[in-house]
Formats: sequence, C-alpha cells, structure tokens
Amino acid sequence: MILVTGATGNVGRHVLSLLIADGHAVRALSRAPQRAVWPAGADVVPGDLADPRSLDAALAGVESVFLFAVPGGGPAFAAAARRAGVRRVVLLSSIGVDDDSEVRDTPIAVYHAEIEQTLRGSGLAWTFLRPDGFAANSLTWAGQTKAGDVIRGAYAEAAFAPVHEADIAAVAVAALTEDGHAGRVYRLTGPQWLTHADQAAILGRALGRPIRYAELPAEAVRQQMDAHLPGPILDSIFAIWAASVGRSPAIATDIEKVTGRPARSYHDWVLDHAEAF
Ligand SMILES: NC(=O)c1ccc[n+]([C@@H]2O[C@H](COP(=O)([O-])OP(=O)(O)OC[C@H]3O[C@@H](n4cnc5c(N)ncnc54)[C@H](OP(=O)(O)O)[C@@H]3O)[C@@H](O)[C@H]2O)c1
Repeated sequence: MILVTGATGNVGRHVLSLLIADGHAVRALSRAPQRAVWPAGADVVPGDLADPRSLDAALAGVESVFLFAVPGGGPAFAAAARRAGVRRVVLLSSIGVDDDSEVRDTPIAVYHAEIEQTLRGSGLAWTFLRPDGFAANSLTWAGQTKAGDVIRGAYAEAAFAPVHEADIAAVAVAALTEDGHAGRVYRLTGPQWLTHADQAAILGRALGRPIRYAELPAEAVRQQMDAHLPGPILDSIFAIWAASVGRSPAIATDIEKVTGRPARSYHDWVLDHAEAF
C-alpha cells in the first residue's frame, strides 16, 4: 500500500492518479476528504500531518509514502512511519535546500531542510524531490488574465525554470515504485529559464492574446498578498523573487534521467491549463 499525502494538491493529485492508473494499491490522506472529488480506486482517509495522533490509522499497512512537507512535522511523521513499518518515503522538498541556493535561509527552505534532516536520520529509505518554482504558480494570475491582457505583479525580472507538476509527480511515482532511488536527491526544473515577463509573453502566445507583465512596487504587492499567506511564507516568496533577478543557474536533467522523457515546457503547461486563464 502506498500513502499519498498532499493528495488534493498540485503534485499529489497527479501522484494519486498515476499510481491508480498503474494498478497500485493507494491510500490518499486529506484533512478534509469531503471537500474534494476523488478518482475511483482511491482509499481516502482523514488525517493531518500536523496532528501526529491522526497518522497511525493512515499509515497502517503502508509500505511507501509520498510526503508533503508540513513545517515542524518531520519527527512525528518519522516516528509514526517507523511504528507502522513503512519502508520508503519520497519527500516533496524544495530547490531552496540546494547547497548552492542563494535562499537557503528563507523560512520555506529552512523547514524543508529540517524535514530532510529528520528523514536522513530516521532509518527509513528516503528520496528527496527538490523542484524549482511550479509553473502552476501562474494560476494566481488567472483572475487578471480573465479581466484583461495585463498581469500586474512584483519583480518582472524574477527568473525560474518553471516545472510542470505532472513531471514532479512522474518522478515521485518512479521513486515510490521502482528500486534504485533510495538516498537520491533529485533537482527538478523545467527545460527553460524564464522571467515573470517571459512567462506572461508565453502565456499570451499560447492563448493567442498579447498578454504582458507590468511590474508593481514589491511592497504594494506584498500588502495585497498579506491577507492570503502566512508572514514567513510571504517573506520567503519575496526573498526568492528578489534573489532570482539576473540569475540563470543550470537547468537540471533529473526529470529526463528518471522518467526517460524531457521535462515539459512552460508553453505545454499553459496549453494543459488554458481554460483556467
Ligand atoms: N509552489 C512552488 O513553486 C513550490 C516550489 C518548490 C517546492 N514547493 C513545495 O511543494 C509543496 C506543495 O506546494 P503547493 O503550493 O503545490 O501545495 P498545494 O498544491 O497547495 O497542496 C497542498 C496540499 O497539502 C495538503 N496539506 C496541507 N497541510 C496539510 C497538513 N497539515 N496535513 C496533511 N495535508 C496537508 C493539502 O491537502 P488537504 O487540504 O486536502 O488536507 C493539499 O493537498 C510545498 O511543500 C511547497 O513548499 C512548492
């Protein structure tokens, strides 16, 4: 049995569907199962990674876990996993944990690093997936693209290699179901280095409209986002954007190495989500 946590999230929902399609016995964890629509074949259990008491039932009979990282949740999860006899864990971590990352001290990077450290010392077989910014972050622009052709936001020149959530999920499924991935750290990027402004232009080309990115002062955007995200997460996002301006680190090849297929492009991602915009 494979337990998928974060099963309603960007990546977890693909991990769940791919495992079911491949015929694996799968259980999905959610804090509020009744709020989601589940694929046929999923054994859905309620549970909260921040509430260790809810994990024993979810982990009963489980051999492998796809783990969503909850701040501070590493030790309780590792203890419950050992009690249940879990053998392997595939963690959805973050590229911020990379040794050469310039944002290793942001709250997001720090809590992912803590969970990695816990798993390294847990006796469980672990694989860490460290994605760059998700292409799916662009979904926060959907309200603006529905209303017009200008996306207003901070840091037009913030640059990433946006990664398709289905590629992250495909690597996760390989690590959950094949041998040879224990003790591996996979750096997952899209195939191209793109600024926010580049992403807006590609979005426009894919949708057949002249969409452009208009930069607003960072502090004004931060105030708009304040109501929606916790302070430490916002601090991390703005630090990551600021640090990424003018950078172009190497594109990673781990997606192709693990799955045998090149990473999907941002243009492909837009076509897969065109209806949202
Ligand atoms: N977005 C990026 O650019 C990016 C880049 C690198 C790494 N990451 C990392 O990737 C992960 C996924 O990010 P995301 O933004 O894509 O998330 P997301 O899709 O919004 O998914 C969040 C998921 O986590 C589950 N969840 C949240 N808190 C939980 C808890 N206490 N117990 C159990 N389940 C919980 C939610 O499930 P329920 O609501 O059903 O419980 C939901 O399925 C995060 O760890 C993030 O730091 C993101």
